[in-house]
Amino acid sequence: METRINVNGRITAAEEAQLPVLDHGFLFGDSVYEVFWWHRGVLIQEAEHLDRLERSAGRLYMDLQVGREALVEAVEATVRAAGATDADDAYIRLIVTRGVGPLGLDFREVPRRSIIVIAAPANRPDEATVRRGIHVAFIDRRRMSIRALDPGAKTGNYLNNVLAQHEARLAGADDAVLLNDEGHVTEATTANVYVVREGALATPPMAAGILRGTTRTRILLLCADAGIRAREITLAPEDLREADEVFLSSSVRGILPVTAIDDAPVGDGAMGPITAQLRARFEAAADEEAARGGGAEAP
Ligand SMILES: Cc1ncc(COP(=O)(O)O)c(C=O)c1O
Repeated sequence: METRINVNGRITAAEEAQLPVLDHGFLFGDSVYEVFWWHRGVLIQEAEHLDRLERSAGRLYMDLQVGREALVEAVEATVRAAGATDADDAYIRLIVTRGVGPLGLDFREVPRRSIIVIAAPANRPDEATVRRGIHVAFIDRRRMSIRALDPGAKTGNYLNNVLAQHEARLAGADDAVLLNDEGHVTEATTANVYVVREGALATPPMAAGILRGTTRTRILLLCADAGIRAREITLAPEDLREADEVFLSSSVRGILPVTAIDDAPVGDGAMGPITAQLRARFEAAADEEAARGGGAEAP
């Protein structure tokens, strides 16, 4: 497959896709979006993503102006144009921007949303990447606060994450784990974070200032299924440093072990058994979802 981009119904190669400069999505990051994993012909956790898109739009006082069917049709047309087959895994980014309007912050006069879909080959981690795991760093920069711009809304305003990831790389790591203003653990720059200690899992609560990951929701259900104790609790950096296992989750990459924090190994520095088990269960759940043609059936 090849990358194709759909801008308000016009599907082109990536280099030809154009959006007007006066789109408030470009000017102000005034947009909402979702990244889906398209697997064996199915948008994995489609309903969860669309629910979240609607919730994100609500937080931005944004009327999406289009229904779910039209959004899914736009995605399907784009993925078809990209030439994806059932053997491909695709990365699908669905963006709804405020649209083109007057040059100013006031969006009340912006008449129409812009709908953009990017369909690209998915960059899923290979076995070697999984075995090595992710190296993370704690950095000085904080996750933006809930009262400033709630990280629970998935908006196009991503500079907090962009800069954090850059600073993690400057520190020699692959990704950052961000703390909030209270010094509690929130999430990585594009993934939720989990710790495992003595066989039990913990992940920060929404109140820490995080995105409610669709993968996170599925993982909590998979834990219940597997009889793994799982809690949403406030975590300190030490909880990660002293954990037996730490891992990250996001839609396209799935579950990835964190094997080093600030250059120190997590546990014995290799993927742990609970991470491996949840990873296998997560991949199997996606395969099952694809086999039944998608649709809501948890987990
Ligand atoms: C900041 C942040 N947290 C968490 C996630 C994981 O969300 P999901 O599992 O729905 O992909 C993402 C995904 O892009 C993200 O950007």
